[in-house]
Amino acid sequence: MRHLMNPLDFSVEELDRLFDLANKIEKNPAEYAHVCDGKILATCFYEPSTRTRLSFESAMTKLGGRVIGFADANSSSAAKGESVSDTIRVISCYADICAMRHPKEGAPMVASEKSRIPVINAGDGGHYHPTQTLTDLLTIRSLKGHLDGFTIGLCGDLKFGRTVHSLINALVRYPGTKFIFISPEELKVPDYITEMLREKNVPYEEVIRLENVMPQLDMLYMTRVQKERFFNEEDYVRLKDFYVLDTAKMELAREDMLVLHPLPRVNEISVEVDDDPRAAYFRQAQYGVYVRMALIMTLLGLAS
Ligand code: CP
Repeated sequence: MRHLMNPLDFSVEELDRLFDLANKIEKNPAEYAHVCDGKILATCFYEPSTRTRLSFESAMTKLGGRVIGFADANSSSAAKGESVSDTIRVISCYADICAMRHPKEGAPMVASEKSRIPVINAGDGGHYHPTQTLTDLLTIRSLKGHLDGFTIGLCGDLKFGRTVHSLINALVRYPGTKFIFISPEELKVPDYITEMLREKNVPYEEVIRLENVMPQLDMLYMTRVQKERFFNEEDYVRLKDFYVLDTAKMELAREDMLVLHPLPRVNEISVEVDDDPRAAYFRQAQYGVYVRMALIMTLLGLAS
């Protein structure tokens, strides 16, 4: 039995197989409509979500399976004090696979240690969001044809952003990757990440002004300043609109640059950018369904 806790849990070769399967599902979804007949996915979400929970539910439904779960810790027995370990022991009696989101770093890992079914980390605090990373990598590979040799700008909340931490960890395995970190001083990428990049000789720059680096980028990964991760409302209000990607800034970018965003967005991408052919964030959300279908099949041993 296998879990997914961290984007590095799959080798590069395993990821290639997963993405090949996701692209086959995209081309011919009808062929996969009964692969999970009789199987049940539990979505245990202790923190709000639109994309991750509903794309998992959509993925399992499109595979012919069924879904149970909760979307709010307060509607589960967590509100009565039940531990994640006890909850997963019980969920193991009801479902074949579980996707879990939790505000505490490591909670899905604790669950996986007591689970009799595969557990997927659907986001744990500011730590990792591996299925968003799979979505990001599939989007890049599908739209660009490969994953190596890109200069990628990551912009916004690089301190608390679990999607950013997961994506950096995953992209360092592809040769020729260069990172440009664009953030205010207070939201810089954590030291453990820059130390890891130095150890691996992966080039990176840290800058504050987005405009200065736009022409260099193959991809711009925008992120939201996350209100829920701030301890202090004043700091959030001061930093929330630090970056706004608009059409004037897009004019500085290459013709083939992709704009990605894990979503939800607030103000960091102006809606006028949505019509730019380089804006790929809604296509990215669609790829999230295909990659989660491929992941469910793989973890249930149903991928041939
Ligand atoms: N990208 C993402 O994780 O979105 P949700 O929080 O809506 O699941």
